[in-house]
Amino acid sequence: MKRKKVSIVGAGNVGATVAQLAASKNIADIVLLDVVEGVPQGKALDMQEAAPVVGFDVSVIGSNDYQDTAGSDMIVVTAGGARKPGMTREELAENNSKVLLSVLDKAMPLSPEAFLLVVTNPVDTMSYVAYKHLGWPRNRIMGLGGLLDSSRFQTFLAMELKVAVQDVSALVIGGHGDEMVPLLDSCSVGGVPAEKLLGRETLLRLAERTRRGGEEIVNRLKSGSAFYAPGASIARMIEAAVLDQHRIFSVSTYLDGEFGQKDIFMSVPCVIGGGGVERILNVDLEPEEKTALDHSAASIRKVIRGLGY
Ligand code: 2OP
Repeated sequence: MKRKKVSIVGAGNVGATVAQLAASKNIADIVLLDVVEGVPQGKALDMQEAAPVVGFDVSVIGSNDYQDTAGSDMIVVTAGGARKPGMTREELAENNSKVLLSVLDKAMPLSPEAFLLVVTNPVDTMSYVAYKHLGWPRNRIMGLGGLLDSSRFQTFLAMELKVAVQDVSALVIGGHGDEMVPLLDSCSVGGVPAEKLLGRETLLRLAERTRRGGEEIVNRLKSGSAFYAPGASIARMIEAAVLDQHRIFSVSTYLDGEFGQKDIFMSVPCVIGGGGVERILNVDLEPEEKTALDHSAASIRKVIRGLGY
């Protein structure tokens, strides 16, 4: 089987973390691309030099030239500004959409068969912008969001219960913004509903911390935003698609009536495999959750309209 190739545009903290994780797991040959000269080359070489110790044999190349990304199976776009304390992800929309479109115009013609994974914030809006710009079928474009948010929720649940995080299951859907929707009824611990162990109030508190999860890191870091958990989530999405794993993750995908939403990108549970977003697990939500999802959708639409769509 031919080895897969994944190109990551943006060699900042998120891009570099993804490259390192994806290489370490031997998922695909990696190209790390950035406009800044020397940085992607230096980081990539540093990662490559870890191969004998970590035990991977994929190549990691750093570049400033899009030609090096040609023939990729997946393009991951992390380029764009990150939040500073006091900023929302939405405030990044105008500037980052310009960055995204210029990346797409350079990268996509060279990798016409690739999947696109959008990470640039506000990610649901940016995924929508990419979808409209490229005109590709929806299975080929996905955005980060729900998997990261679910991972945060699972972490907080495990910390609260003092149990192994591997035994905690939780799902967050909706926009990757303050109005994301942690599904309280589907949280479980070793098959036991979490609410029975923690009570509703605690669950609500942990859900609120999840909603503010990105902001909590931004406020602590003071400059820049989270990258370890985002990087891990992105690497998992790459792995599932490139290695055809049919994993179920909450990812930002184009909705065409599913979950009562049309013409919007939001995170919902999807099957991710060799066909990209192969299937959306469309289920009926509780009325309260449906209302929350509608609110989240309305916020995303506002940003999309603000960009003139
Ligand atoms: C976060 O939630 C970067 O939006 C990302 O941390």
